[in-house]
Amino acid sequence: MRYLVVPSKETEKWRAFLISNDWLERGYNIQKENNERALPLSDFFPEIIPPPLSQFKIIEKVVSAPIPSNYLGFLEQKISKNILNKYNQYWPQSFDQIGEIIIIKIDENIEKYANEIAEALLLQNNNSTRVFQDLGVKGDFRIRKLKLIGGSKELGGETKIKENGIEFIVDPTKGYYSPRLATERLETLECAKILKNKLGRGLNVCDAYAGFGPALMPLLNEKGLVNLILANDLNPQVSLILEKNLIKNNKEKSSINLKCEDAQKLILDVQNRGFYDLLLVNIPHSTLDHLPFLIELLNLKTTAVLRAWCIIESKNIDKIKKQIKKLFNSLNYSISKIIVEPTRTYSPTQVYTKIEIWTNDSS
Ligand SMILES: C[S@@+](CC[C@H](N)C(=O)[O-])C[C@H]1O[C@@H](n2cnc3c(N)ncnc32)[C@H](O)[C@@H]1O
Repeated sequence: MRYLVVPSKETEKWRAFLISNDWLERGYNIQKENNERALPLSDFFPEIIPPPLSQFKIIEKVVSAPIPSNYLGFLEQKISKNILNKYNQYWPQSFDQIGEIIIIKIDENIEKYANEIAEALLLQNNNSTRVFQDLGVKGDFRIRKLKLIGGSKELGGETKIKENGIEFIVDPTKGYYSPRLATERLETLECAKILKNKLGRGLNVCDAYAGFGPALMPLLNEKGLVNLILANDLNPQVSLILEKNLIKNNKEKSSINLKCEDAQKLILDVQNRGFYDLLLVNIPHSTLDHLPFLIELLNLKTTAVLRAWCIIESKNIDKIKKQIKKLFNSLNYSISKIIVEPTRTYSPTQVYTKIEIWTNDSS
């Protein structure tokens, strides 16, 4: 590699000059050369030394390539610097990691390098075993269509997650799971503990759209918190993994009722009507439409809590709060506390919103 040798005191000045011309080779260290400093030169540095630098000498040094600090460094080793520079604007800058799985969106202009991108990601992330290309949300269950572009096919889509200290299995190729909601799930746990203290007994909990059960895991792990859980998910492939997770984490031997049906029909079973102290509703695009069919699962006689999540137009928050109050009142539930609170932006006009409602609480 070629190095430009400059006086030590002027190192910063000439380093900045090289960078401004794209002539400094990134990733390699500046080296000591007797009392001077040697700056690594990129391939763009001209063959003939340009005038401002002609007073300095150029030397050749044999150096081993540095270990890349990001996946693009590994990618460069696979596809060459020229191609990396050619498609500079398209390389993904971020990706999601779920357990051992990496999920990444790839622009169509660089799709032909999908396998190389995957290999580079696996080299950089030692704990990951598979890379899936994200082809967008599809179908009734709004599952991400994922294409394996790196790692072993035999491993399938399952991966182990550790969230808030609790392990469970998810499969992003079969259903929805987002580690971003982990703090919401801790809030649900805190809420459940307060409710349990208020009622003085273990809770009957219904997670109507349970997915792989991430919201139920911390509840099951808490001593004496749960009496019975109804865990429901309409997707049979998700339901199978949900069952395994519930069995594995049922430390307190709570009663578990697993269902795989449309949550809007749970109310048709008379045993469910008015039985639950805590109801979880997480089907963000449809929560408000489904709520009228779910509220009566809540206990009408003692304090009960609904925690739900939805995506709504931010300008409609107050209107929706009024609608929900009206709905609860029409079903004879008195609301003692209502929170309708945006937690993050979903689109330029929409917000991901948490709903928490306490009923029949006279204290
Ligand atoms: C956004 S995910 C939430 C999963 C989980 N509660 C979580 O927080 O990770 C919604 C889940 O609802 C399920 N689902 C969709 N429509 C349903 C319905 N009508 N009844 C019951 N489950 C449904 C999907 O299969 C999916 O697992």
